[in-house]
Amino acid sequence: MDIRRALSHFSENRSRPIPPRDIIIDTDPGQDDAAAILLALASPEEINVLGITAVAGNVPLPLTSKNTRIVCELAGKVDVPVYAGCASPMTRDLVTAEHVHGKTGLDGPVLPDPIMPLQDTHAVDFIIETLRSRPTGTVALCPLGPLTNIATALKRAPDIAGHVQEIVLMGGAYFEVGNITPAAEFNIYVDPEAADIVFKSGIKITVMPLDVTHKVLVTPTRIKALRDTQTKVCSAMADMVDFFERFDTDKYGSNGAPLHDPCVTAYLIQPDLFTGRHINVEIETQSDLTLGMTVADWWGVTDRAPNAMFMGDVDAQGFFDLLTERLARL
Ligand code: RIB
Ligand code: CA
Repeated sequence: MDIRRALSHFSENRSRPIPPRDIIIDTDPGQDDAAAILLALASPEEINVLGITAVAGNVPLPLTSKNTRIVCELAGKVDVPVYAGCASPMTRDLVTAEHVHGKTGLDGPVLPDPIMPLQDTHAVDFIIETLRSRPTGTVALCPLGPLTNIATALKRAPDIAGHVQEIVLMGGAYFEVGNITPAAEFNIYVDPEAADIVFKSGIKITVMPLDVTHKVLVTPTRIKALRDTQTKVCSAMADMVDFFERFDTDKYGSNGAPLHDPCVTAYLIQPDLFTGRHINVEIETQSDLTLGMTVADWWGVTDRAPNAMFMGDVDAQGFFDLLTERLARL
């Protein structure tokens, strides 16, 4: 190809828009899950949500599958298929977090019960069928809760591991250590066996641990910015945060709630908001003392092979500017 044709080819490609990423969101709403789902649904240029799968976590499955649809209807996106998944961890009893999210899991705003139906297909079957039916490497999985649905799909259909483009998940902690026990973050703690399967799957993984999510605090100024948009969605989000922040402000004395889960969708939209290291991360599944701990080799002191991009820092104001601008679109 001569230089003129090469340059025209290059300039043509530069002008061609990058297509949105096809993703499946796996979630346990949860006010911060709601923020992540709303951010994804407000960003069709970057994200195409193929479906949302609910998992037991913050509250039991009947509530997480109901809350997922409440959030889709709040966003006015009733055409997004929602699937109910696993009602309990792979081998353990379910641990929930009503003390953080309230008894509904979405305490704060008064929102109507959903009208949109749940899909008949089980979430795990949807994950397997979607990955098998679409071109390899074109679908990203975005878990925001315990990894039960994802790990169950990998165990039932090991072939799908080669189909996944990337897993971008919220979970774990290193410098921040635990939020549900002294050693473990909630999503990993609830189903450590599931997390162990995912982190040993060989799939490209990007992790949003408490180390970054505890840096994206919804301060009073940021709540005001949400309310100042004077939109229904941002007002509901501010009401959710007003409730959700109590746990962290009481426990940590922090100046607002950490918005854990929207770090995942913000990364899909603007990855340069985050920095981290590609390191080895393994999951404690044996010790009662440190069950669910993400043993992150941040300092490279072992010869264990790196298996995850573990995020350590974030441009918090850039994150909130993005979140507020996008949610105001809905
Ligand atoms: O530890 C925080 C995580 O646990 C968040 O995903 C929150 O929604 C809960 O699922
Ligand atoms: Ca969650």
